[in-house]
Amino acid sequence: MAVEYVTYQGIKFPPAYNSERSLRFAHKEFQVQDDDVFNVTYPKSGTVWMIEILSLIRSGGDPAWNRAVLNSTRMPWFATHLGLESALSYPRPRLLTCHLPVQLFPTSFFGSRAKVVYTLRNPKDVLVSYFYFSKMCSSYKDPESFEQFLQDFLSGNVPHGSWFDHVRGWMEMKGKENFFFITYEELQQDLRGSVRRLCQFLEQELDDRAINSVVENASFRAMKENKMCNSTLLPRDIMDQEKGTFLRKGICGDWKNHFTVAQSEAFDRIYHDRMGGLTEAFPWDAR
Ligand code: A3P
Repeated sequence: MAVEYVTYQGIKFPPAYNSERSLRFAHKEFQVQDDDVFNVTYPKSGTVWMIEILSLIRSGGDPAWNRAVLNSTRMPWFATHLGLESALSYPRPRLLTCHLPVQLFPTSFFGSRAKVVYTLRNPKDVLVSYFYFSKMCSSYKDPESFEQFLQDFLSGNVPHGSWFDHVRGWMEMKGKENFFFITYEELQQDLRGSVRRLCQFLEQELDDRAINSVVENASFRAMKENKMCNSTLLPRDIMDQEKGTFLRKGICGDWKNHFTVAQSEAFDRIYHDRMGGLTEAFPWDAR
């Protein structure tokens, strides 16, 4: 069946759980509370990983909650119709998730003391992960080819819009007290140190034992085994597990197995054009 994306303010969203109404509500009417913590990402940047980390931190390192309750209930997708219900009945302080670009984020956030954790990832790895994800998700168009998907990604013609705009938009928040950004690559390289930094930002003290438990239970291996976060419980008409695996490889640099030299050079040119002027140097910028 042909997929028709929902469009809100010029950005496409997958139709499964999103509607123009749910997106408008999230943007204009959703009431942010000062003690809310938001997990914000562009797709395929480590969203579900961060859900595990943040919920483990919230439960002081005890994995019982992560093992018993679905990730989408632990950190509801408040901009979708299903997620909104969970978000509205969630006891404070809430943990919430979304892929919204900053210009569509709840207006009530700005001026609040709520916190945002923004996770970003090497866009070439995002692209590869997004390519495989689109194949297994029924609410995404099946990519015609890797080359076509690359062109669509570069021009922002994919659900959730342009990676470049998303990152540039959110990075404007850099330096604000209630904004914390981290990369997938840093999580990979030093999960323990990353968890410590997150705890500091969240003003939640965890002892060494609790931190060890967060690190252990948020590992790729532990997450693969946990049905509450490995997506295997999603119905087939949402995610077809025969067409792929949500927790696919979980590595940095898989793009090297997919891009030709010409594709990589073309990508780099656009990357430098679009990201020029951003003072931040990300781990993948190191030559
Ligand atoms: P790959 O497709 O490259 O394997 P999102 O949650 O934003 O959709 O991102 C999914 C990507 O994060 C997938 O990347 C997935 O494997 C990876 N991921 C999720 N949990 C991870 C973990 N604990 N360690 C490493 N990668 C993880």
